Amino acid sequence: MAMEAADKLITGQELTREEFIELLQAASSSTELCTRLAEEARRLRKQYYGDKVYLRGLIEFTNYCKNNCYYCGIRCENRKIRRYRLTKEEILDCCKTGRALGFQTFVLQGGEDPFFTDERLAELIYSIKERHPECAVTLSLGERSYESYRRLREAGADRYLLRHETADPAHYRKLHPDNMSLQNRKQCLLDLKALGYQVGAGFMVGSPGQTEEELAEDLLFLKDLQPQMVGIGPFIPQKDTPFAKERAGSVEKTLLLLSVVRILLPKALIPATTALGTMDADGREKGMRAGANVVMPNLSPQKNREQYALYDHKISTGEEAAECTDLLMRRMEAAGFHLSWERGDAR
Ligand code: 5AD
Repeated sequence: MAMEAADKLITGQELTREEFIELLQAASSSTELCTRLAEEARRLRKQYYGDKVYLRGLIEFTNYCKNNCYYCGIRCENRKIRRYRLTKEEILDCCKTGRALGFQTFVLQGGEDPFFTDERLAELIYSIKERHPECAVTLSLGERSYESYRRLREAGADRYLLRHETADPAHYRKLHPDNMSLQNRKQCLLDLKALGYQVGAGFMVGSPGQTEEELAEDLLFLKDLQPQMVGIGPFIPQKDTPFAKERAGSVEKTLLLLSVVRILLPKALIPATTALGTMDADGREKGMRAGANVVMPNLSPQKNREQYALYDHKISTGEEAAECTDLLMRRMEAAGFHLSWERGDAR
């Protein structure tokens, strides 16, 4: 039954919810099945993107957030972290440094910080595009209105990352306070698509209460949404959140989901995430071998990197740092991949 589901997935047929559940359950206890899925994922990755690993410079420009998600270290109720917000000049400096290093995509990521109004953001995006017209600007700023997304797109933003976190309404409730809704989050993704952004969705693996049923919902949702990018990383507890004592998601399960998503959306741009690199020193390479094709080294000012603490023990040095891409390159080459300095838009 699970093998049939795997065959269906590999031959591009639609799977039902039950078949996805079957597949995920079977893969949890069968390395043979995992290997088969990983091989197919690698084959597809190679077919569409060769051995390339696209680079994105990540600028974590504010850790203020008005939301209170139970899993996240920068939730508004966390009084233990020191908050920071980069100035426009600091952000432009990060881009300048990044451009000199060779980056052609800047990802502006932050909490939902009301200081960054449409006007401030539009001006910032415009200034980045004015200085670096050949570069792509990706935003990752959470939920905003259609009108806001429209203005930011008009200012020059090319892509938007907004993980849906979980596509199951009941599970969504376990991870978020009542003032947030899955429906709104989904609507944001549809709005972004309608505005012509290249859109990224995604979810955590092993978040509290997640089972194969919820993951099956995530896969069905992704198949339906057809995002150009998908971010998948293990859940990692953060000590000053309600989920401090919960177990982290596993590396193996994350790799399995990377493979399944690669097969489901063969042309997607899929990062081997920082969370995966945090859980396993070779997480990045393993992610690539499971079907990922993007890495997002940290371009934030050194002094702020520790403060952007979504989860505990987040790595920010070594091959994780934008200034250490030579190290990253050596590691990727050793694993059989090549860093690409192209913009790397979706196929
Ligand atoms: N562990 C892993 N990933 C997390 N994120 C937030 N908190 C955690 C955590 N504790 C992820 C969310 C968010 C992205 C920016 O980081 O999925 O969308």
